[in-house]
Amino acid sequence: MADRQIDMKKTSYILGIESSCDDTAAAILQDNQVLSNCIANQKIHQSYGGVVPELASRAHQANIVPVVQQALSIANIDKKELSAIAYTRGPGLLGSLLVGSAFAKSLALSLDIPLIEVNHMQAHLLCHFIKNEDERPPEFPFLGVTLSGGHTQLVLVESHFEMKEIGRTRDDAIGEAFDKCGKIMGLNYPAGPEIDRLAKVGDPNAFDFPIPKVDGLDVSYSGLKTAFINLVNKNSMKNPNFIEENLNDLCASIQKTLVTVIINKLILAKKKYDLNRIVIGGGVAANSEIRSVLSEKAKQDHWEVFLPPFQYTTDNAAMIGIVGYHKMMTQQLGTMNQSVSARLSL
Ligand code: KG4
Ligand code: ZN
Repeated sequence: MADRQIDMKKTSYILGIESSCDDTAAAILQDNQVLSNCIANQKIHQSYGGVVPELASRAHQANIVPVVQQALSIANIDKKELSAIAYTRGPGLLGSLLVGSAFAKSLALSLDIPLIEVNHMQAHLLCHFIKNEDERPPEFPFLGVTLSGGHTQLVLVESHFEMKEIGRTRDDAIGEAFDKCGKIMGLNYPAGPEIDRLAKVGDPNAFDFPIPKVDGLDVSYSGLKTAFINLVNKNSMKNPNFIEENLNDLCASIQKTLVTVIINKLILAKKKYDLNRIVIGGGVAANSEIRSVLSEKAKQDHWEVFLPPFQYTTDNAAMIGIVGYHKMMTQQLGTMNQSVSARLSL
């Protein structure tokens, strides 16, 4: 299949499949336009306070066929009309990736259509190239920022597939820090969206947390998370109702600090690379504090900021499909013997 020639003039229908963590997702794209974008969330992890890899792969196995069927049916497409299948090759949980890749490979083989492998982190940034009536796609080059539960990266993006990591977290990802701070406050996993909601009625200056000092464009979140846990534990010993009485303020204060850390690095990166165009991706791109700080920067300091539509922030298959489309247009097709990679780099 790797040496197959694609007819560029023909309309293409691409099935995107995403299974790198705990969401089983399938989408159908007609060229760069999304026809359907379906996700089966795995509620099973909530009672464990985090994703349990073995349970995630089992749930993917149960969900993948119905989710793909749903995506085809919403798009009103028969599987025989598909032009190619794009799937997440990594990074992610090995068992979860294997379910998506095995399904994608067998379906591509049975339909005799090309298979396209996709890097999940590239996809979080390239979701901005999905056809959108409200916004044109960003021009190259730009500074990409991926903020998710597993990664926090600053990326220099020269073209669709020329991406270079210029900064990263040295320990926890920003989403992980949201989730772990939420866990200590008794919030369900993933806690990011709940912290965001509660923070709206809290005072962001109620509690002070130190901004970690890290050289260059790298960030660190684990010290901040520990400072938060220590503050909660110390105060809860004195007052068992401390969390309950201060929940909104705790959420607003930690959220403001988590966001400040990455904004400070973004200011440095803009200067260093003399770039004004900022493109955000990943689950934490849904956060209202980060969206409002960046919108303010756009207004006051004339940053050119691209925030993804909400449906393309957390893990989804439309972003996998759009990368598939651009790879197909440039003849970058995958092979059956390509194995998944839990630590795939950009
Ligand atoms: O990109 P994503 O769906 O999965 C990974 O690739 O990791 O990101 C999931 C992360 C979780 O940590 C979740 O708490 C966080 O994104 N998240 C948020 C919000 N929505 C999702 N964090 C803060 N505010 C939000 N509104
Ligand atoms: Zn992700």
